[in-house]
Amino acid sequence: DSPLECDIVVFGGTGDLAMRKLLPALYYLHRERHLHPKTRIVALARAQHDVASYSRLMRRHVSQHVAKADFDSATWDAFAERFSYVSLDAAQRVAFPRLAKALGDQPGRVRVFYLATTPNLFAVIAQHLDSVGLANAGARIVLEKPLGESLSTANRINDEIGKVFDESRVFRIDHYLGKEAVQNLLALRFGNALFEPLWRNAHVDHVQISVLETVGVENRGDYYDRAGAMRDMMQNHLLQLLCLVAMEAPVHFEPEAVRNEKLKVLEALRPITGMDVQDRTVRGQYSKGSRAGETLPAYYFEKSVDHDSNTETFVALRAEVDSWRWAGVPFFLRTGKATSQRKSEIIVQFKSVPHRLFPQSNDQLAGNRLVIRLQPEESISLSLMAKSPGRGMLLQEVDLDLHFAEAFKRRRWEAYERLLLDVIQGDATLFMRRDEIEAAWRWVDPIIEGWQDCYRSPKRYAAGSRGPDAADSLLERSGHAWFDER
Ligand code: BG6
Repeated sequence: DSPLECDIVVFGGTGDLAMRKLLPALYYLHRERHLHPKTRIVALARAQHDVASYSRLMRRHVSQHVAKADFDSATWDAFAERFSYVSLDAAQRVAFPRLAKALGDQPGRVRVFYLATTPNLFAVIAQHLDSVGLANAGARIVLEKPLGESLSTANRINDEIGKVFDESRVFRIDHYLGKEAVQNLLALRFGNALFEPLWRNAHVDHVQISVLETVGVENRGDYYDRAGAMRDMMQNHLLQLLCLVAMEAPVHFEPEAVRNEKLKVLEALRPITGMDVQDRTVRGQYSKGSRAGETLPAYYFEKSVDHDSNTETFVALRAEVDSWRWAGVPFFLRTGKATSQRKSEIIVQFKSVPHRLFPQSNDQLAGNRLVIRLQPEESISLSLMAKSPGRGMLLQEVDLDLHFAEAFKRRRWEAYERLLLDVIQGDATLFMRRDEIEAAWRWVDPIIEGWQDCYRSPKRYAAGSRGPDAADSLLERSGHAWFDER
């Protein structure tokens, strides 16, 4: 597609997301000619800037967040030509006529309003845009996760947004869906005939989805202490990955078909309520620890975090998808901050052979395992049993590895590049529909509520460790173990 001419209007234009992700992504889109020459970028924030000082600020940040070899002054200057800056308090309606004036009266022009702000401003901004005629037919609104903090708060936001923007113009971002490796999961499943016949309970023993980070809460204590790992990661990124693993093949690769199939998975998740909350979930929080000789602080000593905080920084759980395809297959999900290694991966563990003919070098290893790694590097590996060289027939596990950086020499796109381009082109396939968000909250809410009764204080784990021991017991109880390099 040739790029559409549009205005990209970023609320929260001086915020963390804009500086670390959005502007670097737009820089790359500009550099690689995916932006129309007349596309403008309008940044909005409360800080007083003129376009020159804003551009200087952004230059500093963008140059740090793109590869050194990809940053040069001539490209930057041409990119910065697209900028304008409007200082406004988005909560105040009086400021919006100024925005309307800055954008000019161009009915039908595609305008992307990117709300990189806290969710409590979403509805207000939508109303204010409407009040000055900016929510017209060409306007699209992009909302960052987490959308609300429960089903009822998410509904309230969606209702308010829905009064101004119809669903086809609402783009709810989950940046995990923009990751190349995540889309590769769809390619692997639906572009190859090999796995699909095996992708079901007759052949799959269990699935593991891990998103582990070495970083703590960094400078986001304020937000994170109210959210916690369940709302920050599990409700969105991990459940979306689960959907892509478990969904049926959509009839077309287009927004409604794909999202219908994901929704069915969310609706098939068996509720975790009552005693199951204690049995099937683990809630953790990091305490003081160390990594490679460096001391790491406890969560409750992080900046802007309450010293008595009971917020979880780690969640592990056992999910079940009650469907014809997945009945009886556990999906083990975990996510945590300040763990020993950074990795995001999906593991599909297949059942072992029905009858063993040969001895194995390690009796624990049985069954083929598909490892889809999203981070730090993107790869797919399939473990096979092979004969160990020499006498006899001793079997040993070996891996077939595909590393995407080797297979494709081209630069890997960042998630936000892909997603921003999709919004501009109006393609919502990789965005969450309202009913998906609702189904996810409907499943998550009772767990968070259940914790208030039976899991008020999280299990401690040392920062820099693998997470709480209870996360291991969760799997051991059913004869499984996390696949970690120990
Ligand atoms: C964000 C969360 O959505 O995803 C962060 O709010 C988390 O807490 C981040 O660190 C992880 O994203 P990525 O792309 O670095 O895995």
